[in-house]
Amino acid sequence: MKSDAAILDCPPQGSERLAAALADCVSGETVIQRDEPLARHTTLRVGGPADVLVEPASERDLAAVLRFCAARGVEWLLLGRGSNLLVRDGGFRGVVIRLAHPHFSRIEVNGCRLRCGAGAKLKHVVAEARRQAIGGLDFLEGIPGTVGGALRMNAGAMGRALVDVLETVRFMDLEANIEERRAADVGAQYRRCVFLERRVALSAVLAGVPADRQDIEQKLTAFSRKRRETQPAAPSAGCIFKNPSLLPAGRLIDELGLKGARVGGAVVSQEHANFIVTERGATAGEVLELIARIQQKARAERGIELETEVQIVGG
Ligand code: EPU
Repeated sequence: MKSDAAILDCPPQGSERLAAALADCVSGETVIQRDEPLARHTTLRVGGPADVLVEPASERDLAAVLRFCAARGVEWLLLGRGSNLLVRDGGFRGVVIRLAHPHFSRIEVNGCRLRCGAGAKLKHVVAEARRQAIGGLDFLEGIPGTVGGALRMNAGAMGRALVDVLETVRFMDLEANIEERRAADVGAQYRRCVFLERRVALSAVLAGVPADRQDIEQKLTAFSRKRRETQPAAPSAGCIFKNPSLLPAGRLIDELGLKGARVGGAVVSQEHANFIVTERGATAGEVLELIARIQQKARAERGIELETEVQIVGG
C-alpha cells in the first residue's frame, strides 16, 4: 500500500486529470462531473460513462472547453437531451458537453419569431409559441429534444422538419469563433445537418405565423394524441432507423414480423416497429445486437439497407 505522501506525489490519472485540467480553464460556475454514467443522460437509458461531463456556464466557458479539447487532442461530444443517442457500454473517452446551464436555454419573443437557446427544450418552445399565439411550430410538440439537438438532427414530425421554420442559426466553430448564418446556408437534409456536426449551435431564430390560440391548442392536442396512440411510452431513442425511400422503416420492420423481437432487455416495440424500447438492466450491446438483426433481416428478405437515425457513439 502506498503511503499518503506517495499518493499525493502521484499525478492524477485519466478522467481525474482531465477534469482537474479542465476546471483550471473555466469559471467556478461551470459544472464538471467525472466518470458520469451517460445512461442517466440518454432516453434509451443505456451506455457507459463519460470521462468528463461539462456544463459550461457561459459562451466564454464553452469557448474555453473547445480550445482545451483542440489543444490537447481530446475528443468531445455535444449532448442535448440524449433522445437520439446510443452510447456504447464502454462509455465515451473524452469530454461530453451539455448546454444545460440556464444561460443557454433562454427563449426571446419578437413578433412571430422566437430566438431560442440551444439548450432550450422543444416543449418549452412549443409552450411559449402557444402562449404568444404563434402558429406553425406545433409539429415540434412531443419531440423529446433540445433546440440544439433538433438543429443537429434536423428533427421533424407530422411531415415537417426544423429547417422549415428555421430562419437563422448562431453557432461557435472549433476555433471558438461565433457566427450567425441563414437557414439556407447550413444545408440541412432529412434528419441530418452536416454543417453542425463539428460546430456548436448556440441559438436559433424560429419563425412562426400569427395564429388563433384555440387553433394551436387543437393542433397540439391532435399531434399529442397521434403520438400517444402510435408510439411507445417506454424508454427509447425515438425512431431507430431513417425511413428508406421505398417505404417507412416502421412498416417494413412490422412486415418482417419483428415486433416484440428481443435481445436481452432490448425489444422491438409492439406499438411502433421503428422504436426499440429498453427494459431495466438492458445494455447498449443488446440494443446494437437487435439493430444488427433487424438490418440483416431487411437486407436478406427485402434487399433494403436500413440506416440508423440514432447517433451511435463511444467505445
Ligand atoms: N407503420 C406500420 N407499423 C408500425 C409503425 C408504422 O405499419 O409498427 C406504418 C404506419 O401505419 C404508417 C407508416 O408506417 O402508414 C409511417 O408511420 P408513422 O406515421 O408512425 O411515421 P414514421 O415515418 O414511422 C415519422 C418520424 C417520427 C415522427 C412520426 C410522426 C422518421 C424516421 N420518423 O415516423 O420521428 O414522430 O413520423 O410524424 O422520419 C424520430 O425521428 O425519432 C421520430 C420518432
